Amino acid sequence: MITQETISQIQQTADIVEVVGDFVTLKKKGQNYWACCPFHNEKSPSFSVAPHKGIYKCFGCGAAGDSIKFVMDVEKISYVESLRYLAKKYSIEIVEDISNYQQKQEASTNESLYIVLNFAKNYFVGQLHDTEEGKSIGYSYFKERGFSEETIRKFELGYTAHAWDGLLKEAKVQQHQEDILEKAGLIIKKDDKTYDRFRGRVIFPIHNTSGKAIAFGARILTSDKNQPKYINSPETEVYHKHQVLYGIFQAKNAIRQNDNCFLTEGYTDVISLHQAGIENVVASSGTSLTQDQIKLVARFTQNITILYDGDPAGIKASLRGIDLILEKGLNVQVCTFPNNDDPDSYVRKIGGVAFKEFVSNNTTDFITYKTKLFLVDAGNDPIKKAGIIRDIVESISKIPDGIKRAVYFKQCSQLLDIAEDVLITEYNKNTLLQRKQKSKEETEIYESNIILDNFNQEQEAPSQITLSNAIHVLEMELARLIVNFSDFKNEDGLTLFNYVKNEVHDIQFKTVEYGQLITYMLGQFADQIDLNELKNVEDVHMKNRIFNLLAEKYDLSPNWFKHQITVPAKDSNPFINAYNVILKIRLRHIREMLHENQVIISQTIDDDQLFQLLKVNMVLKNTEKEVAKLLGNVITP
Ligand code: CTP
Ligand code: MN
Repeated sequence: MITQETISQIQQTADIVEVVGDFVTLKKKGQNYWACCPFHNEKSPSFSVAPHKGIYKCFGCGAAGDSIKFVMDVEKISYVESLRYLAKKYSIEIVEDISNYQQKQEASTNESLYIVLNFAKNYFVGQLHDTEEGKSIGYSYFKERGFSEETIRKFELGYTAHAWDGLLKEAKVQQHQEDILEKAGLIIKKDDKTYDRFRGRVIFPIHNTSGKAIAFGARILTSDKNQPKYINSPETEVYHKHQVLYGIFQAKNAIRQNDNCFLTEGYTDVISLHQAGIENVVASSGTSLTQDQIKLVARFTQNITILYDGDPAGIKASLRGIDLILEKGLNVQVCTFPNNDDPDSYVRKIGGVAFKEFVSNNTTDFITYKTKLFLVDAGNDPIKKAGIIRDIVESISKIPDGIKRAVYFKQCSQLLDIAEDVLITEYNKNTLLQRKQKSKEETEIYESNIILDNFNQEQEAPSQITLSNAIHVLEMELARLIVNFSDFKNEDGLTLFNYVKNEVHDIQFKTVEYGQLITYMLGQFADQIDLNELKNVEDVHMKNRIFNLLAEKYDLSPNWFKHQITVPAKDSNPFINAYNVILKIRLRHIREMLHENQVIISQTIDDDQLFQLLKVNMVLKNTEKEVAKLLGNVITP
């Protein structure tokens, strides 16, 4: 186990802006940093990082946490792995208090997968550089392809001999377990035979964003048509093909710097371009481009240039890619290569400098690309031309941003010599209905968010807000005040924590989310909250809520942010706010009781019983009035 001292040291040293900045591009705005959220799909940034608090929070999906949590979620690794990652990043020595062996046993599956994958990578690299077969077959193959020693090392290329169990044997020597090797896709078990998946091939390790090997591609060295050219790792717990782009680790900084990402099809395209000095390049590795892959690129840039073969398969793939990229709100350009060359063969043919020039002269926006492509076989056929126009309008419709769409309509109208309003009519026909539906949903969400804004004005419950919804917001607000201001003292030296505790002793909170948290906090601590202890609460949902509430100290509520409204100094007196909220909770509870009582009244026939119920009703009504009056007195600003 990693000692508490080490964990504290990591917590104190890890800079949230740096940690997050390794995965997404952050822009500073005010005190905080902003980006598009890496955990959900979005077009405008609602993911914030607050450096002075050491936390991040997404106002879109609610993801929130500290550096450790961020690394866990973005890399999909365990708590311990995340600590190791951060320790490595900040050169902090990890002190552990149990033996190595025990640790190995306790490592989660993912961690043990990473361990054997790393072992395998080193094994393949060793085979390439340190064995006769590797040197004479594998290394010379790469050399023949023009890869330099530096490139081979940079991409950690390797080799695996023809033997059936080279890796397996070495793995046994190093005490790796067979079932983990199998789970990592390195060995195959079939009819009580166990053997290496990759044999007699050169190896391309596939890395995740932080540079860990998560899978392998293995290329055959002969032109044997009966064997697949590449054998790749299967899907595993740590390798989800559709979420991975080959080369992202080596390319991410260059992508950010160039604010553009070249997208190719193969391992060798990425490597050759790198060697030629073009480093902002990744490959979808033979799978057709996926939404998740685009999301991955979007962490670093909003601009993608597709570099595909000029053959029919490449063109088809590029067309599919275009729409997918537009849909995700990114900008897309296309460059294709002549004579069935792929970027790899072409850069080798003409060299890096000429290649760059070729790309900058031959990259077109997607409309020009599509238009040219289609006009070639449509000629002057009006029906075919109408088809093209529809097709292009459809692509443009995918762009979420209205201004961008307008620019493209203009361009399309010029290129195809067609009046702009014809295009727009076509567009409207397709999408208006869809959009109407969507905006209705958005309004509803907005309305439910608005409760917080109206917080201090609200006297009567607006009819569209249900009672339970309001209670949810109120309990959340009370939890927020406790989390952020528990140590505030009033004139009598009473902490906010104790004040709330006294005030709510007879209240039964209703929501699972925040009621539970409030009860937990009030029970767990005395006088005030120990934030460090609170942050370490075991229940992950509760933990997430705590981070969310912390993020909202003086900060923006989602809708303030969305609507660019400046934040009022709303927490200037947390005592008044707490008093206010608690009264409102009481009011809600009374109203709920009133409501329940009235339901019973409507169903009661017995006179005596009815009389009792009406008496209760009157008492409740009076209490409601009293509380409302109290509220009215405090509410006025
Ligand atoms: N691919 C694969 N399995 C195959 C063929 C291709 O997984 N049987 C994937 C590989 O990721 C490959 C990419 O598709 O890199 C593109 O295929 P191709 O253009 O045929 O390979 P290249 O990378 O160009 O390899 P080479 O230049 O060595 O032919
Ligand atoms: Mn190739």
